Order: sequence, then C-alpha cells, then structure tokens
Amino acid sequence: MSRILTGIQASGRPHLGNILGAIEPAVALSQKPENESFLFIADLHSLTTVKDTALLQSNTAAVASAWLACGFDAEKNFFYRQSRLAGFHTELLWYLSCLTPYPMLANAHSFKEKSDKLSDVNAGLFTYPVLQAADIVLYQANFVPVGKDQKQHLEMSKDIAATFNRVFGEAFVLPEPLINESVMTIPGVDGQKMSKSYNNYIDIFLPEKELDKQIKRIVTDATPLEEPKNPDTCLIFKLYALLADETQIASMREKYLAGGYGYGHAKKEFLELILSKYKTQREIFDFYMENPKELEMKLKNGEEKAKEVASNTMNEVRKLLKFA
Ligand code: TRP
Repeated sequence: MSRILTGIQASGRPHLGNILGAIEPAVALSQKPENESFLFIADLHSLTTVKDTALLQSNTAAVASAWLACGFDAEKNFFYRQSRLAGFHTELLWYLSCLTPYPMLANAHSFKEKSDKLSDVNAGLFTYPVLQAADIVLYQANFVPVGKDQKQHLEMSKDIAATFNRVFGEAFVLPEPLINESVMTIPGVDGQKMSKSYNNYIDIFLPEKELDKQIKRIVTDATPLEEPKNPDTCLIFKLYALLADETQIASMREKYLAGGYGYGHAKKEFLELILSKYKTQREIFDFYMENPKELEMKLKNGEEKAKEVASNTMNEVRKLLKFA
C-alpha cells in the first residue's frame, strides 16, 4: 500500500489545463487499489497571499467540487481542508521550523520570486515550505505528485523530515516527489500555456453560453472558409485532439484538409465535445456548488478520517520530544 498525498491551493475554479495536467492523473492514481490518496485543500498556504476570506471560502468550494466532479472517491481516500486540522499542521510546523536552517528558506526559489513580486512579504511566505513539509510527513506520505515548480519544496520536505528522524528519532516516512516530466503543456486560447494569470483558460464548468464565448476566443489564422486548412498548426485542432478519441480526431482532420470547413465549425464541435465528454462532471460540479451542505458533509467526513492519522503521528512526535 502506498500513500500518495497532494495539496492544492485554494486559487479558484480549476480550468481545463489543471484538469488534464493535474486532476485527472491524480484521480487515476487514487483509483488504483494499491494506493491510498490524501487530497487536501491547502487553505492555510493560500492565506499567505489571499486575505479576502469570502473569496478563500468560495475558492475552496470550487476546488473541492471540481475534484469530486472529476471522480475523486472521498470514501476510499482522504479528502480534507488543511485549516480544519490546523492544530496538527501548525504544531508540527513549529517543531520542524526549529530544525530548518534559515538560509535554506531564504534561498528557496519560490520565496525569492514571491518576495520580489509581492508587496506583502509576510513570515508565512517565508515558512511556507516548512508548513508544506508538515503537511506531507504528518500523514506519512510515500509519494507526492507535483509539478516541476514544486521540486525544490519537495527536496526541502525530505531534508527536514530526515533531520527530525536523525535528531529526535524515527518518526517520519521520507517522501518522494512524483514529477511527471512527460505531461505536455496545455495551450490556452491565445496559444501560450493555459493559466489563470494569463486569462487564456477554458473553464469546462461554465454554463454553455459562457463556455461558448471562451471557445470563440481561440485564435486562428485568416484562411477563408472554402480553403483547405492545416490541422497541425491550428490551435482549435490541438485542443480538440486533447479530448477527442481517434475516430473523432481523424474525422476532424479530414474536414480540415477537404476545405469548406471553417474555424467556426471546428469551435462548435469542440464545444460539443466538452459538453458531452464532461457531462457528468459538469452535473456533479453544479450539484456541490449548489448544495454546500453536501460538500461540507463530504469534507467533514474526510477531516474525521484524516484526524486519526494526524493524531497518531503527533502522539509519536510528542513522545519523541518528551512533550508527552
Ligand atoms: N505548494 C503547493 C502548490 O502551490 C501546494 C501544497 C501545499 C502542497 N502543501 C502541499 C503540495 C503538500 C504537495 C504536498 O502547488
């Protein structure tokens, strides 16, 4: 049995890039019988940059609903908000902080980047990686699937956990990152990497009309409708091919090459594909967004389960520190 753990910042509704690049692969891992997945909303981490608590709350709901919509089984696995187990996470953060060399944090890429860019450079940003280490080792995670940008944070987590084991005694499993180098970048409607900050994303959970508007923004060249078109240089085709099956891809390719088929037609087919492929996901997402009590119940259950694991670890830790 392997424990897989992932933390997700409460940064709003996941878009198609997040779904294809992170959510679907993580859900697939969590469905394997030999794995046990811990999935949590890192809302304590989000507080380092977001101070609008209503926004944080609605972002949390959107992220949680999206994961459930994409098939994350909260009964088989562990699904929780970090803030609801804040006692455990922050207590461990303190013990680990006392083992973390100052220069390790001062030289972290993400801290340097954020402290250059943000006007609010708070202590939370500085100790961010230590809280992340606590998130991971608290649940004795074996593997942590993350993007390349999190590689350094994971190295720090492992280092800090190893230091604790050496100084106070074996308390923690040493976590390994799972970095999928082969994940391709999903292009946004302007052809750059799809990202919330570029405002070029496709939000598959939008109502049809608004989704249609986003899809209409996909950039194309000016080849007239009647003329044949090159599917391999077309952004609509690229996005369509990420979701379509072989037959659908081959059929759209033929239409491009034959001519008499416009980009408007291709955009319409892409919209229809999203609506049919993600029909269930869209329904489940709406259900949880419209029934916050149901979502709350799922999370509360998950938090009860997570609490057992966290409190076992902390009992061990306190014993080793002779604080209990
Ligand atoms: N720092 C991660 C990110 O921004 C979020 C995160 C917090 C995390 N705690 C974690 C990821 C623990 C993996 C494990 O994406």
